Amino acid sequence: MASITIRNLDETTKQALRERAAHNGHSMEEEARLLLGQAELASEPIEVATSPTPANLSSTNFDASLDGKRILLIISGGIAAYKSLDLIRRLRERGAEVRVIMTEAAQAFITPLSVGALTGDTVFTELLDRNTEHDVGHIRLSREADLIVIAPATANLMAKMAGGLANDLASTTLLATNKPVLIAPAMNPKMWNHPATRRNHRTLLSDGIGFIGPNAGEMAESGEAGFGRMAEPMEIVGAIQAMIGEIEGPKPLSGMRAIVTSGPTHEPIDPVRYIANRSSGKQGHAIAGALAKAGAEVILISGPVNISDPKGCEIIKVQTAREMQKMVETALPADIGVFVAAVADWRTVKSADEKLKKKDGKGPSSLKLTENPDILKGIGHHKLRPKLVVGFAAETEQIEKYGKAKLKRKNADWIVANDVSPETGVMGGDDNSVKLISKEGVETWPKLTKQQVAERLVERMVAFFDVETIEI
Ligand SMILES: Cc1cc2nc3c(=O)[nH]c(=O)nc-3n(C[C@H](O)[C@H](O)[C@H](O)COP(=O)(O)O)c2cc1C
Repeated sequence: MASITIRNLDETTKQALRERAAHNGHSMEEEARLLLGQAELASEPIEVATSPTPANLSSTNFDASLDGKRILLIISGGIAAYKSLDLIRRLRERGAEVRVIMTEAAQAFITPLSVGALTGDTVFTELLDRNTEHDVGHIRLSREADLIVIAPATANLMAKMAGGLANDLASTTLLATNKPVLIAPAMNPKMWNHPATRRNHRTLLSDGIGFIGPNAGEMAESGEAGFGRMAEPMEIVGAIQAMIGEIEGPKPLSGMRAIVTSGPTHEPIDPVRYIANRSSGKQGHAIAGALAKAGAEVILISGPVNISDPKGCEIIKVQTAREMQKMVETALPADIGVFVAAVADWRTVKSADEKLKKKDGKGPSSLKLTENPDILKGIGHHKLRPKLVVGFAAETEQIEKYGKAKLKRKNADWIVANDVSPETGVMGGDDNSVKLISKEGVETWPKLTKQQVAERLVERMVAFFDVETIEI
């Protein structure tokens, strides 16, 4: 059985392993175990690649490293507190120093002992503590961090922050800080949707507090589902990296404006029925988020989707192709246009004002359809055409041929063509296998997650505008 001791690896190899693990969403130990397994299978010597494969995704120059960054993590009292243990591990693996404050309620869910063992530091729990407050420790805690992260953030702590309360160590530190704050809320969907929490959320947003999540999904309470699940630890790590990056200065697409369309469109048949497709919006939203992370001003125009909004984008929600077209044109001019939305090709000539009724068991004999506007083609030929126009082609056959034809017909710079045959699971799934088609040729990318496709595409955009700059 092969083995490696991570601690004994040289710094370059350790960094490569760290980046590779981040890219694959694993801990360093998990990634090392995977590599060992693969190496054993192949009966080859163990090799840790010096650059993450398949693409240099996690080391994008806008993805801030956490080496030496000081994160003050506040854990408040929700069931998701156990996930903050994994968050601490993942932050420390990436070189961050993590200090923790736990609320009294948090200590009913996980122990300061486990937290301290993972941070390798004292866990702070008391405000009126003569050992830590002889030099006003709560002020020091709040000032000695680069970023404060609250995960999980309870409805109670959000309410206290929104109201400016300071009656324990966590809330006092939050009121006293001059550092950026990121919140990962976790609560029952009824609590999240309660008008009071809605109000507090808006207040905190307008106070400049960053949010990651909550995500939609099943709750710990049986039978309950909706928005309220805490974002996964790796999503929180991503948001922390983005915020650290923001603090640290300009990014490669700073000053650029991008329009992204995402999701399906819904074309009404009558007040209750519509024509739609299976697009989830995951790819478009991931691209919008990656563009924002790279510093672009992003306007995301989205059809109806069931996923959370990407961070840092202006979101415009639409229903129909015609609404989407109008919003895209209103958002011009832009430097980049990425048209990912699966816009319905047709709509009914006229949607019925009242619900269509079955007549003696028969429905309407036919629906009269008309073509929807072609948004990509319209923008490709627009007088305010963005410098870089990227279209998506979802095909079930002859992907390359149709993709190339689309590139020409729509006057796009790139077409990202993907196979959406049912067996690929691309529609609604988390992975994507794409070909990047441009005038220069066709590149076939390996199967990647949609997030990875988004990051790789944005890297290409950065390179595209770099070349543009040199030419000027
Ligand atoms: C079993 C259990 C689970 C709880 N889960 C949550 C939760 O996920 N989110 C939340 O906002 N409150 C939750 N609460 C309620 C909080 O613990 C309670 O509001 C507490 O006062 C929060 O204190 P803190 O904000 O100081 O940590 C839960 C309570 C119990 C008993």
